[in-house]
Formats: sequence, structure tokens, C-alpha cells
Amino acid sequence: MNTFTNSTEETEKFGIELSTKLKGGDIVLLSGNLGAGKTALVKGIAKGFGIKNTITSPTFTLMNLYPISHKQSAISQMVHIDTYRLKEETELAEIGAEDYLGKPNTICLIEWPDKIEGLLQKYDTKNFISVEIKQLENSSEREIICNLPN
Ligand SMILES: Nc1ncnc2c1ncn2[C@@H]1O[C@H](COP(=O)(O)OP(=O)(O)O)[C@@H](O)[C@H]1O
Ligand SMILES: [Mg+2]
Repeated sequence: MNTFTNSTEETEKFGIELSTKLKGGDIVLLSGNLGAGKTALVKGIAKGFGIKNTITSPTFTLMNLYPISHKQSAISQMVHIDTYRLKEETELAEIGAEDYLGKPNTICLIEWPDKIEGLLQKYDTKNFISVEIKQLENSSEREIICNLPN
């Protein structure tokens, strides 16, 4: 599932599309520079799951949890993690992130996954979905590269 987007709205729309392909237990690894659009994509995924809450960046809280009330789905929550300000991997364990990662009723979205490589090694790579957002020059164009089939 690769695409190019030209606005925040288009990136969100791609997030909605991506949400339809996600299964419980999936861990979405979002990489890309600061301002690439990782959080924008998370907003789209949240919309796709019918989450009405305002999605805020968990830069300071590290992790935000949103309930999902889709009737025909076993997925009941979405966890949004941002490790940008994380100093030690153990900080994430301390706030209970491992209660959510890879759980069949949970979708996990992680910005800056490279910072928690050690922690992620504990999980089955079949749960990982990688998404890379590349900012093209100084424009609003983004290339989104995702390892899911169309
Ligand atoms: N095509 C695009 N897709 C996503 N965001 C875009 C795009 N073009 C411009 N933007 C802007 O880039 C910024 C992306 O911010 P954000 O999603 O918080 O990035 P990140 O979480 O990767 O640091 C926002 O200000 C958004 O309006
Ligand atoms: Mg962000």
C-alpha cells in the first residue's frame, strides 16, 4: 500500500483506508522525520475506527489510549505511542505499554519505533506493519510506503 499525498487531509484519508486492513494485535511502526505526518496518519486511522476523541500527540504523555466501540469487531482499543522524548526503553514498560502491545483486542501505533527496538524484539514480527512517510522537498507532498498489500 504505497501512495503519494499532497495535503494533511489526503494523508488522513490514507489512514482511514489503512484502518480497514488492520487486525487486532497489529503494531503499526510509523517512521519519518518530525513533521512528516505520522500523527496526521494516526488521526485518519482513528477516524477509520470511529474514534470521536480528538487525537493529540503523545509526545509528553508517551502513550494515549482510545476506546473503540465497533460493534462487529473484537478490536476494542487503540494505543498511540510516541517515543520522541523517551530516554530509556524501561520508561515505556513503567507506564504499562506492554499491557497493550500485540494484544488481540488492541491496535498499537508507534511513532519513532527505532528508539524501542530492544523492547519490540519481544514481539512476533508478523504483528508488525511498517509505514514510512517521506517528506518530498519543502512541499506538502509526502510519499507513504507501507508493507501491506493493496
Ligand atoms: N501531505 C501531508 N501529509 C501530512 N501532513 C502534512 C502534509 N502536508 C503538510 N502537512 C503538515 O505537516 C505536519 C505534519 O505533522 P504531524 O502529523 O504532527 O507530523 P509527525 O507526527 O510526523 O511529526 C502538519 O502540520 C501538517 O499540516
Ligand atoms: Mg507525531
